[in-house]
Amino acid sequence: MTERIVQTIRTVPQMRGEIAARRAAGATVGFVPTMGALHAGHLALIERAASEHDVVVVSIFINPAQFDRADDLERYPRDEAADVKAAAAAGATICFTPNVTEIYPQDFASSVQVRGTLTETLEGQERGVGHFDGMATVVTILLNIVGADVAYFGAKDAQQALVVRRFVTDLQIPVEIVTAETVRDRDGLALSSRNARLSAGGREQALAISAALQAAANAISNGSADSPEAANAAGIERLRAAGIAPEYFAIADPSTLEPARQLSGTLLIACAATVDGVRLIDNLTVSANREAATANC
Ligand code: PAF
Repeated sequence: MTERIVQTIRTVPQMRGEIAARRAAGATVGFVPTMGALHAGHLALIERAASEHDVVVVSIFINPAQFDRADDLERYPRDEAADVKAAAAAGATICFTPNVTEIYPQDFASSVQVRGTLTETLEGQERGVGHFDGMATVVTILLNIVGADVAYFGAKDAQQALVVRRFVTDLQIPVEIVTAETVRDRDGLALSSRNARLSAGGREQALAISAALQAAANAISNGSADSPEAANAAGIERLRAAGIAPEYFAIADPSTLEPARQLSGTLLIACAATVDGVRLIDNLTVSANREAATANC
């Protein structure tokens, strides 16, 4: 990998100027939008972008518009210096770290809204569609500022990635969207910026989330569940045993998020739960085709 020197940019005109200059020199641009608190999942996205592009922009912007609770926004972990250092080590060339008024100037009055099952179910049902309106609006703004060839998102936020693909297609934003696999700790816990707020006991309890997803996936692939409800029950049972009452535990079509009516094709199993006062989400995809599942083992 070529050695990269990271540049920190805080304003939109500077960001546009820098990208225009790099493009004039023939560079391609990869983009990883983040809210900071970078972990190995973000770094994997940055590394991938760095292996595919000359310039890698990482935005670090905690977007107030996508938080449904003020205390969640307040407690979101912040350490810009550590984030810039980690992004640089992973191969970022530019860290875009605007302040809130740079993104939302005083007279800001617009919103990007995706409507339908994609935003109204799962996270949308629990947090309200306003969460996705806030996310879609800021991602549109960031894509417009950065003008990347490819933008990278993590599969842990599967619903977010689907919503991004929807508005990028609908609004004809000229960027390719890549969704990269969820990065997990060795014991299965999906990496999340929020994990930093878990106590040791809370982290132990949180392991039940990935275990429950796996229990439901196993019940589907080994045939012990004969319906989505039965697979769901296998997952919920695992959560209950760990003392977790999920906000949702759902088996859905991975491209529409409609609830699965039968066990066939590829299915998304998604869960959200608050553990130790920290709201966590995770998901898995599983093939309900038993021959394929066996062949993949
Ligand atoms: O996934 C996130 O961290 C955020 O939703 C994103 C895409 C950076 C937009 O604020």
